[in-house]
Amino acid sequence: MPPASTDTPPSGEAKADTSAPFQSTMPASNFSWQITLAEKVIAITGANRGIGLGIAEVCMANSAKFVYSLDLMEPGEDTIALQKCYPNFRCIQTDVTSEESIEKAINQIVEETGRIDGLVANAGMTKHQPAMNFDRPQLEQMFDLNVFGSYFCAQIVARKFIALGIKGSIVMTASMTSYRPNRAAPSAPYGATKAAVRNMCHTLAMEWSKHGIRVNSISPGFVRTAMTYYIENSPEWGNKMENYGGMPRLADPRELGGAYVYLLSDGSSYTTGIDIPIAGVVGAW
Ligand SMILES: NC(=O)c1ccc[n+]([C@@H]2O[C@H](COP(=O)([O-])OP(=O)(O)OC[C@H]3O[C@@H](n4cnc5c(N)ncnc54)[C@H](O)[C@@H]3O)[C@@H](O)[C@H]2O)c1
Repeated sequence: MPPASTDTPPSGEAKADTSAPFQSTMPASNFSWQITLAEKVIAITGANRGIGLGIAEVCMANSAKFVYSLDLMEPGEDTIALQKCYPNFRCIQTDVTSEESIEKAINQIVEETGRIDGLVANAGMTKHQPAMNFDRPQLEQMFDLNVFGSYFCAQIVARKFIALGIKGSIVMTASMTSYRPNRAAPSAPYGATKAAVRNMCHTLAMEWSKHGIRVNSISPGFVRTAMTYYIENSPEWGNKMENYGGMPRLADPRELGGAYVYLLSDGSSYTTGIDIPIAGVVGAW
């Protein structure tokens, strides 16, 4: 009996074949060059509300065949309203801090639709308090969701892309706080998690390009969601608008969607390892 290999992946998963030929992402000669998600099956983590839900809507509006929200919470009113407009927007209850749960969800998508073409690692959390007050469990919770959750979603879906022979696209939601502090409400650990998310995309893109898998990120500024309820209520909001210039408002989550659609589509076949900041200038300070 041969000795057990230390790098054998869990059963049923593709092992990266280093001798395999380089998989070019160049579209076929009859490609229409239209930016579209037609025929594509996309999974978005944390898409039951907020930015994820906005991305889901824009993916459906751009002809995605199926969009799946992998979210811990039950579908809410907004999720159900979008499902009424787009019945192919589906939800699978998933905890992205558990590899088992992620794997189960990805397998279910493939069982139901026969494929998976893109994954948006979007679920994340923050906590605003002075740097002096954070303790280890608070940091662990944030890193577990934002960094480990994104990493394992990418790893698990990349194995599936390879097993199915699909040239898939992975997009992660980073943040402008990966570049600079959030002056409106500082959170040192949050910025660190988002810098990690943005950074890991560079190396994942490099390592997985031979499989035809692209990995990019998007860094939103201020987007109107449950996470940013405090911003417009801050007594200094008006002053900041005057002093910093740019667009004096928060983004609607759907205003980010076009960038995700582009990165998920075959129109971005030569785009990998980049970050797209979307901050209306005001969210960039
Ligand atoms: N709102 C902003 O201004 C802003 C700016 C930059 C980056 N971001 C990032 O965008 C992403 C989405 O933020 P949002 O504002 O929409 O937040 P949100 O809190 O409105 O939504 C987050 C979603 O993630 C889900 N979720 C939480 N834990 C989960 C888990 N363990 N498994 C699966 N799903 C889980 C939640 O149930 C929720 O539906 C986050 O990564 C956030 O850090 C937000």
